[in-house]
Amino acid sequence: MARNIGTEEAIKRWDQFADAYSEMHTEQGDRHKEIFLNPTLFSLMDKVENQKVLDAGCGEGYLSRLLAKAGANVTAVDFSKRMLEIAKERTGSEQIIYKYGNCEDLSFLEDQSFDLIVSNMVIQDLADYEKVFLEMYRLLVKGGVFIFSLLHPCFVTPNSGWEKDQNGEKMHWNVDQYFYEGAYEQRMGEQEKILLFHRTLTSYVNTAIQSGFLIDGLIEPKPSPEMLEKYPTFKEDFRCADFIVFKLRKP
Ligand SMILES: C[S@@+](CC[C@H](N)C(=O)[O-])C[C@H]1O[C@@H](n2cnc3c(N)ncnc32)[C@H](O)[C@@H]1O
Repeated sequence: MARNIGTEEAIKRWDQFADAYSEMHTEQGDRHKEIFLNPTLFSLMDKVENQKVLDAGCGEGYLSRLLAKAGANVTAVDFSKRMLEIAKERTGSEQIIYKYGNCEDLSFLEDQSFDLIVSNMVIQDLADYEKVFLEMYRLLVKGGVFIFSLLHPCFVTPNSGWEKDQNGEKMHWNVDQYFYEGAYEQRMGEQEKILLFHRTLTSYVNTAIQSGFLIDGLIEPKPSPEMLEKYPTFKEDFRCADFIVFKLRKP
C-alpha cells in the first residue's frame, strides 16, 4: 500500500460504501457505537444543551441527531456527498446545519465558532490528521473541548486480528506493524475495502500537544454491565481494547 495515498481516495471509497455503511446504523449508530462509543463520548461532554457543536465527519448523522435531541446547536460536516445526502434524508425535526467539507481544511467556518467539537471514528480515515487538529483548535472558543474516538492504535494495526486454534477458538489478539505510519486497507462488508491511516499513540499525543491542546481526559471504553446483559458476546472485549477516546481542551 502506497504510503502517500490520500484523503481523496479514502473519500471516493466512503462515497461508494455510504449506503451499505448507513444500513448498519440505527438511531444509536452501529452496535459498537451503542455499546462503547456513545456512553463514552457523552460522559466526556461538559455540557450539551445550547452549546454550539461541530460533528466533524458526521457520516449518516446519528450522532448529530443525538446531540441535537440533547439540545445542542449542531453543525455537521462530511467530505462524502453521499453520506451527507443520507444524513439529510434521515434528519427529521432536529435542527442541524449540514456542510460539505474536508476536516483538514474547514476555512469556510469562522475561528472560535464552536464550544464543542466531536469527531467519532473519523481521524483514522483521513491522511492529514495534523491539519485536522490545527483546524479544530482554530474553530474552538477558548476553553472549548475537542472529543474524538479512534480505533485503538496500539491494538488495531495493519494485519492485527485474532489468532484462532484449529477449532476456531480465539486464542489471542495479534498485533503487527505498530510503528508503521500510513495508509492500509481494511475489508468492510462483502467487497468494499476502506482506507485507514495508522499512527502510533505517541504521534497522536504529541500532535495534540503541539497543536496547543491540553489533554483533559482519555478513555479506553469497555462494555458496561447493562450492555453486557443486552449483548453477552461482547465479554470478549475485556481481552483487548478496540477503541480509544480523547478529550482535548483549548486553554
Ligand atoms: C467511520 S465513518 C464515521 C461517521 C460518523 N462519525 C459516525 O460515527 O457514524 C467516517 C466518516 O468520516 C468521513 N470522512 C473521512 N475523511 C473525511 C474528511 N477528510 N473530512 C470530512 N469527513 C471525512 C467519511 O466520509 C465518513 O462519513
